[in-house]
Amino acid sequence: MNNLNELSNCGNGRIVLNRYHYFGGLSEQPIMEFCEDNGINLEFIHILWEAFQTNSIPDTQLLMQFDTAMIIEYLEKTHAYYLDKLIPEIELNIFRFAQLLGIEHPIIKHLIIHFDLYKQDLVAHIQDEELFGFTHAKQLLINGVSSLNYKIAHFEIEHEHKEEQLGELLHFLKSNVSECEVLPFKMILSKLELLQRDLFIHSSVEDEVLVPKVRLLERVLLSRHH
Ligand SMILES: [Fe+2]
Ligand SMILES: [Fe+2]
Repeated sequence: MNNLNELSNCGNGRIVLNRYHYFGGLSEQPIMEFCEDNGINLEFIHILWEAFQTNSIPDTQLLMQFDTAMIIEYLEKTHAYYLDKLIPEIELNIFRFAQLLGIEHPIIKHLIIHFDLYKQDLVAHIQDEELFGFTHAKQLLINGVSSLNYKIAHFEIEHEHKEEQLGELLHFLKSNVSECEVLPFKMILSKLELLQRDLFIHSSVEDEVLVPKVRLLERVLLSRHH
């Protein structure tokens, strides 16, 4: 917890807290106070924040100590952050970029088509996770049984990493666009990279924390029923 002061004083925790609807400036809303008021565990946020700072997988051993419900809440809030904030921001900048280059420009056409496909794919991925993996886990936590014919092993086997596909689009943009100084283009690149980095951390929490925790829960509940 060496960096706890840095997290709370410098406001860098915002990159994680934005999904808990922390959008305030530090003078308006100090982070520690915000966490306290909203029942957010600051240590949990700190572990994730460190992963964002170093662009690496979070310390999964440490994350394993937190409640499964808290992990799921974070994952769900992250999904909502992608769909309600980050994706619309990227779309807005694509729209602005299209206004500059013209809708018929081949780069714009490529960007619109591929980003739209990507978005549809991500939406389906998120719906699938929430409908099966997360619902299954929540039912086990609340009721001790799941009404779904589902095991977390399915999630483990089928889980795709959505950050990987973003690499292709980023590569296309970086190698084909010469108007790189215009603001909407810079925003598109930085927000796509942000989404890519966020998804990398998000997927690792799903694989390395949620899956083992739910697998353990399944085992404990199964042994209880026998
Ligand atoms: Fe997810
Ligand atoms: Fe996922």
